Amino acid sequence: RRFYRGESCSNLLACMDRGLTAEEQNRWTFEVAWEAANKVGGIYTVIRSKAYVSTEEMGDQYCLIGPYKEQCARTEVEEGPLSSNTLNRAIETCRNKGYKIVTGRWLVDGNPQIILFDIGSAAWKLDEFKQELWDKTNIGVPHLDVEANDAIILGYMVADFISEFRQTAEQDGDGSPPKIVVHFHEWQAGVGLIAVRTKHIHVATVFTTHATLLGRYLCAGNTDFYNNLDKFAVDEEAGKRQIYHRYCMERAATHLSHTFTTVSDITGYEAEHLLKRKADVITPNGLNVKKFSALHEFQNLHALSKEKIHEFVRGHFYGHYDFDLDKTLYFFIAGRYEFGNKGADIFIEALARLNHYLKSSHPDVTVVAFMIFPTKTNNFNVESLRGHAVTKSLRDSISDIQNKIGKRMYETCLSGRLPSGNELLTKEEMVRLKRCIFSLQRDGLPPVTTHNIVDDWNDPVLSHVRRCNLFNTTHDRVKMVFHPEFLSTTNPLFGLDYEEFVRGCHLGVFPSYYEPWGYTPAECTVMGIPSITTNLSGFGCFMQEHIADPESYGIYIVDRRYIGLEDTIRQLAHFMYDFARLSRRQRIIQRNRTERLSDMLDWRNLGVYYREARMQALRKLFPDYVEEIENSINNMKYPRPISEPPSPSSSRVTTPAASVHGSDDEGDSVDSEAELEELRNHHK
Ligand code: UDP
Ligand code: G6P
Ligand code: GLC
Repeated sequence: RRFYRGESCSNLLACMDRGLTAEEQNRWTFEVAWEAANKVGGIYTVIRSKAYVSTEEMGDQYCLIGPYKEQCARTEVEEGPLSSNTLNRAIETCRNKGYKIVTGRWLVDGNPQIILFDIGSAAWKLDEFKQELWDKTNIGVPHLDVEANDAIILGYMVADFISEFRQTAEQDGDGSPPKIVVHFHEWQAGVGLIAVRTKHIHVATVFTTHATLLGRYLCAGNTDFYNNLDKFAVDEEAGKRQIYHRYCMERAATHLSHTFTTVSDITGYEAEHLLKRKADVITPNGLNVKKFSALHEFQNLHALSKEKIHEFVRGHFYGHYDFDLDKTLYFFIAGRYEFGNKGADIFIEALARLNHYLKSSHPDVTVVAFMIFPTKTNNFNVESLRGHAVTKSLRDSISDIQNKIGKRMYETCLSGRLPSGNELLTKEEMVRLKRCIFSLQRDGLPPVTTHNIVDDWNDPVLSHVRRCNLFNTTHDRVKMVFHPEFLSTTNPLFGLDYEEFVRGCHLGVFPSYYEPWGYTPAECTVMGIPSITTNLSGFGCFMQEHIADPESYGIYIVDRRYIGLEDTIRQLAHFMYDFARLSRRQRIIQRNRTERLSDMLDWRNLGVYYREARMQALRKLFPDYVEEIENSINNMKYPRPISEPPSPSSSRVTTPAASVHGSDDEGDSVDSEAELEELRNHHK
C-alpha cells in the first residue's frame, strides 16, 4: 500500500488536487451497492455509516445508487429532485427511456443524495441486456436465477445513467472531461461495472468485494478453506455449486475495474487466489462514531438497556426465575444465519462447556446466551407470549395495589394514626396476588426459542442445542434464548432495537470461520461492549495488527487458524469463563477501555483508504491526477495498556479522571494503574 503523504491537514477539501474543491474540479463520485437504502447485512452498514464522511468530503458531488426496494426506501428516503441540474437532466433522459427512478436524500447522517432504480420498470429489457452481456463477455445467466437477472437489469440501468451523466457533465463543464469515479460494491453491483467498461464509458471504476462468492460457499460446506486456498479448481468448484455464472460476473468486475479493493487483508488473500487479482488497496470498514458529551454516557446507557433485557428475562424464565439478575451476564451472537461461517456451532459447543465450568465452580453466576439469527418462522410461540403476559399482569396488579395502599395509608395517617399491616393489604388483594403467583407456574422448561421455527427439527441452532443438552433447566448456569428474527423497537418481547440490545449486553461473541470484516464486534467496540472475534475475521486481524494487547482492551481473539477445532472451542470457553468471573468493577473498567478504541474504527480515520482507491482509479484515466492523502491509521498504534499510560493519546478526550470508589457500583471512571493491574492478573 502506498500513500502520498502531504502536510497534516484538517480540512480535507483544502488539500485536494492543489486546493480545488470537487465541484471546481468537476469531480464526482457515485457509489453503487445493492444494499444502498436496502438493509440486508454488513454492506448496508458500510454505505450508511460512511455517508457522513463522504458528503463531508464531496458535498453534493457524491451520490449513492441502488435498487429501489420499497419497504426500506419508503421509510428511509425523502424523495425529491437532486441538487444539481446535471444530475437531474441525466435522470430525466433515463426516465424517458421508460425507467422508473426514484431520487432524493437518504435520511441518515450526512444526508447523501441517492438514486434508486426500479428494476421492474426495465424488466422488459432483460433479454436485450443479457444478450449484450453474452456478446461482450460470454457470460450466460440461467433464466431461473432471479437474483442474477435483477443484478443484470440494475447493472445496465446504472451504466445507461452513468453514460448520460458523463455526457451532460462534459457539456455543462468547461469542456474538459469530468473526473468521475464510480465505485461498485460486491458482485450484484459488479454487473454495472462490466457494462460501464464494455460500453467504453470514460469514467474511473473501483470494485470492492466484501467477500468472494466461492469463499462463502466453500466455507459453508465445511471445507478446510484457508489451507487449500491456492489449490482450488475455481471454475469447477463454482460449477459444482451452480454459481458459475455469478462467479464469472464477480471475476469479470474484479478484472475490469481500474482499482480493486477488499475489506481486509485476509479477504485480499482469498481474492488473489479465487478471483485471481491482488487487491490494489485494502479498504477496512469503519463506523460513524458518535462521542457523547458526558464521558460515561455509554455506561449509563448500558445500565438502562440492561434493565430492559432484565424485563425480557423475567418474562421468558417465569416459573423458573430462580437466579439473581444482579449476577447474570448477557452474552450474544447475531448476524445473517450462516451457521458455520458465523461460528454459531462452536459458540454453542463452548457454551456447553461454560455451563459445566460454572456449575462446578461459580453456581451463583448465570449466563443468558442470546442467539439472533433470522430464519423462517410462524411467529412468536405461545409459551414466550404467555410468559410476558403473566409477568405483565403481575406488574399491573402490583402497581394497582400499590396505588390503593398509598391512598389507604394517606387516609389513615390523616386521621392521626399509623396503619397496621393488615389494614394496608386487604384479603382480596392477597388473593389477587396469589392468583398471579399461581399463574406463574409452568409445566415445561422455559423455551430455547421465542418463535415457532418452520423447520424446527432440522434447524442447525436447535439441533446443536439439543445435542449439547442446553435445555434451560434450573441447574443450568447457561440459559439459551434463540431469537430467530432481527430486533426492532416494535418487537413485543424485547421492545428494543439492535443497538440498544447490544448496549445492554455484557459480551458479544462472534467466533466466525468466514468473516471478511465482521461489523458486529466492531459495533460492540464503539459502544464500549467487549467482544470475542477470531483471527480469521477481517476485524480480528485488523485489531491484532493495531493493538499490542487486544485482550486488555476487551477484544478477545480466538485462534481459528493455527490450532485445531477442539483447542479453539476450549479457548473460546475459557475466554467466556474468564469473563464470567470478572467483578462488576472489572467489567466497568473493561468497558471503558473497549470504548477507547472507537477512534480507530471511525470513518474519519478509515475513510482515507476509499480516497486512496478513488485516486488510484482516477490516475489510470488522468495520469497527472494528484491528491494529497494523509494516512492517519498507520500512525495509530494502541500500546499495551499497563506499562504505558492507560489510554491511547489519540483518544485522551474520553479518558475519565481517576476517582476513589467505595462500592462496586461506583466504578464508572475507575482506571487507576492498580485496578488495571488487577484486571490484567485476572486475564493471566
Ligand atoms: N444487525 C442488525 N440487527 C440484528 C443483528 C445484526 O441490524 O439483529 C446488523 C449489524 O448491526 C451489522 C450487520 O447486521 O451491521 C451484520 O454485518 P456483518 O458485517 O457482521 O455481517 P454480514 O451480514 O455482512 O456477513
Ligand atoms: C454501568 C452503570 C453502573 C452499573 C454498571 C453495571 O457502568 O453506569 O451504574 O452498575 O453499568 O455493570 P454490569 O457489568 O454489572 O452490567
Ligand atoms: C460482508 C461480510 C462481512 C462484512 C460485510 C461488510 O457481508 O460477510 O464480514 O463485514 O460484508 O464489508
